[in-house]
Amino acid sequence: MTNEERDALLAAARGARKNAYAPYSHFTVGAALLAEDGRIYVGCNVENAAYSPTLCAERVALGSAVAGGARRILAAAVVGGHGEEEPCAPCGVCRQALSELMAPDAPVLFRTEDGMTELPLSALLPHTFRLKK
Ligand code: THU
Repeated sequence: MTNEERDALLAAARGARKNAYAPYSHFTVGAALLAEDGRIYVGCNVENAAYSPTLCAERVALGSAVAGGARRILAAAVVGGHGEEEPCAPCGVCRQALSELMAPDAPVLFRTEDGMTELPLSALLPHTFRLKK
């Protein structure tokens, strides 16, 4: 990923985060996915009064990417927090969901206690469950 792509991906995730619907946790999340064709797809978390229907930002972005015609995601960025950005690693379900369209070596950008970090998806989700297509 180029520095320009990294900056654009983070900016898109931060922009999407502004639209998050999180009246219960107040933890707003934005995600951005860089597709093979160069397009960036975004998502934000969408909470629900029944809690379990809540959608994570990453899976909203994934749905948006697939609906837009993408089939391969080259990189992902996730940002979140209560107001100011906080450490926000993708949850386990979203790691598995992203693995459907992302290669193991594709980078995921997110904030840890040490600041923004970039790790391959395989570092977040070793021994990924897959089915032969
Ligand atoms: N959330 C995400 O959007 N992505 C994650 O990977 C972790 C959690 C959302 C779900 C919920 O709306 C809020 O963050 C607090 O858990």
